[in-house]
Amino acid sequence: MTADDLKPLIRAIPDFPKPGILFRDVTTLIGHGAGFAAATRLLADRARAVGADVIAGIEARGFIFGAAVAARLELPFVPVRKPGKLPVPVLAIDYALEYGTDTLEVDPDAIAEGQKVVVIDDLIATGGTALAAVELLRRAGGVVTEALFVIDLPDLGGADRLRAAGLTVEALMDFE
Ligand code: PRP
Ligand code: HPA
Repeated sequence: MTADDLKPLIRAIPDFPKPGILFRDVTTLIGHGAGFAAATRLLADRARAVGADVIAGIEARGFIFGAAVAARLELPFVPVRKPGKLPVPVLAIDYALEYGTDTLEVDPDAIAEGQKVVVIDDLIATGGTALAAVELLRRAGGVVTEALFVIDLPDLGGADRLRAAGLTVEALMDFE
């Protein structure tokens, strides 16, 4: 299967989580065995090509794809977590949401200084989550130049924000 074959496996849910939002749902992609395998392979091919030492995934849906890619490549997987979940002293970063702020946390010992970290998430919208994760992983010692997504929503500008910050961004598909 190619990336083009995967696009029909994404379910669109109108008015979730709020009226007027058309939510792109990866549940139906991961619920399709061959589709999930193909998405994992395509992301892993890219992570391998850029010489990843470590795969980082962003909670929660980034864990599904990131962990599968890491296992396929036999690389370490580092979870970038929502607050209060890791059982060790953490590095934390606050980032802006549409309303209010949120926080991401990482184990400071999860990455060795200078390791090349590829960040994976299911979807990039405004890019705030991914930019915060990149900054956090850099503070942990990682060299982060590449972010991979299953879905880009280009109208929301996140991929452009990451590119303006010097990152290479790739997604398996776009939805306008
Ligand atoms: C979604 C998505 C990304 C983020 C993208 O996660 O999985 O992590 O939002 O939005 P942004 O580019 O505007 O920052 P969500 O916070 O809904 O968490 P979940 O994966 O736990 O459902
Ligand atoms: N789908 C899933 N997650 C999201 C979306 C979406 O359409 N927009 C922002 N986060």
